[in-house]
This record gives sequence, C-alpha cells and structure tokens, in this order.
Amino acid sequence: MQLGLIGYPIQHSRSPWIHQAFMKQIKLDGKYQLFQIEPDQFDQGIRQLQTLDLDGFNVTIPFKQRIIDYLDQIDHFAEAIGAVNTVVCEKGKWIGYNTDGLGYVLGIRSSYPDLFAGNKQVLLLGAGGASRGIYYALLQENFDRIDIANRTTARAQELLSINTSNLSSDVMTYQEAAQQLNQYDLIINTTSVGMQPNLDKQVIALDGIKQNTVVSDIVYQPFWTALLKDAKQKGARVHHGHEMLLYQGKIAFEKWTGHRIDAEKIMPDFLNSILAET
Ligand code: ATR
Repeated sequence: MQLGLIGYPIQHSRSPWIHQAFMKQIKLDGKYQLFQIEPDQFDQGIRQLQTLDLDGFNVTIPFKQRIIDYLDQIDHFAEAIGAVNTVVCEKGKWIGYNTDGLGYVLGIRSSYPDLFAGNKQVLLLGAGGASRGIYYALLQENFDRIDIANRTTARAQELLSINTSNLSSDVMTYQEAAQQLNQYDLIINTTSVGMQPNLDKQVIALDGIKQNTVVSDIVYQPFWTALLKDAKQKGARVHHGHEMLLYQGKIAFEKWTGHRIDAEKIMPDFLNSILAET
C-alpha cells in the first residue's frame, strides 16, 4: 500500500505514526510518505504526485481547497464542506473525501455516547475550515440545536448556508455565548486559540457552565489547553484533540484499504506519542 500526505509545512505531522500503526495492526505492507509541497509550486507538485503509483493520500493545510480542481470525483460530504483531506486513487482516478468532521464525531461518540441520546444543545466556537467539517457532521446527528460563535460573526453566518436540515442554529459573539453557557451540553473549540503562540488563551471563559457539560478542544498540542484546564477546574467533562486526529485517519485508512481498524486499541500508544512531544 503506497500512501502519503501533501501539505506545507508537514515535518511534524502525526499522520505517518497513525498510518504505520494501522498497517501494523492489520499486517499490511506499505509506506506512508510525506510529500511537502511549497504553496507556490502546488501545480508542479501535484503533477509529480500523479506520476507516482499511490493508492491514496491525505491533504492538509493549506491545500484542502486547492486539491479539488485536480480530482476526478468528489463525494457529497466533501463537496458540501468545500474541502478535501483524503484522496483515494482508484484505477488512475482521484476521488476526494473529507473525514475530519466524521472523525470528530466518531471520537466524541466513543468517549461520551450520552451526548447522542437526544435533546442536547451544542455550542461551536470558531467558523474556519475545521469548524465547517465538524458542523456539517454534527448536523447529521440528533441534536436540538447547534449555535456558532466566532470573532468574525459574518464568517459564522456563512457557515449557516451548509445547514440544509431542520436543526436550529444561532450565530453569536463570544460575549453573547458566554452569557448563556449554562444551556449547552457540548462546547467545542475549533479555533487555533490555545495553541502556540496563544498557549494561555481561550476564546471564552467557562463561568456558569453546567457540571455535566463536555468541553471539547480540537487543539491537541498542548494536550491540556487553557480551555480544557478551565473546564476541568469547573467540574465539567473534557474531551481532548488527539481523538479527532486518530479517527479521521481511521476513516481515511479504511477507504484506502477496505480493512476495518480498531482505533480504540491504538489510542493509548497514540496518546503516549502525543504526550512525549508536549
Ligand atoms: P482552520 O482551517 O484550521 O479552521 P481557519 O479557517 O483560519 O483555520 O480558522 C481559524 C478559526 O480560528 C476562525 O474561527 C478564527 O476566527 P475568525 O474567523 O474571526 O478569524 C479563529 N481564530 C484564530 N485566531 C483567533 C484569535 N486570536 N482570537 C479569536 N479567534 C481566532
């Protein structure tokens, strides 16, 4: 199996670790290589990739939108989000998928299945690329409402256009969201706040949060973001960012190989590999 990743910069990517662990689990021979492409050399980089006999590859920042022009097919989920993170190469054809949002949902469902039992309210913090995929995936689930708060509210407003369900969503500022935090059962940070260089920052303070609420951060470096530390201190439940990373990889790998992966089994080693880097 010949797999890989395109993006820039990607030297610190966790994806080789993940896919090598998956190959080992099902005893499959193969390689997962990093193909770093400079953004201004994107076209040449892709032409070169087309000459390799790859079975599939992942796409990361900043190419998740640009890759779409080079695909033969795109699945409806990736098309609705407008971003592709996984390409399956099949008989010379490139087919694009997006496994980020579904990976997020698989992770949170496996840790907190009670959130999916109905009548729950979600607050999404951020309205960038990551938020789009997660919002779209959450819209397929059985929630009462999914509100979106963002620094730039116009961007959150744009996100509403991918909501073709009957589920209600309000757009608000962080300040407005902070005033009604006690209504949410799941609060998800999809912004880059909490990562370098904003290590000690969080987009919203968690005063007034319910005890049983799950606070989830897609930032995985550091493992304990300022937001998650605040959540823990306030007695809320927490969900860390590394899970989404592993599960988006699981869905991609299953598409490439047709084999089922037991991601739960790999999770402890994966967590150790993340913690070793912190
Ligand atoms: P990604 O594809 O990783 O989601 P992105 O599309 O650039 O990246 O989105 C980044 C998100 O983080 C956005 O919600 C952004 O808010 P704006 O839309 O208002 O720019 C948010 N973000 C980044 N830095 C931030 C900061 N310092 N304070 C608040 N929000 C921030």
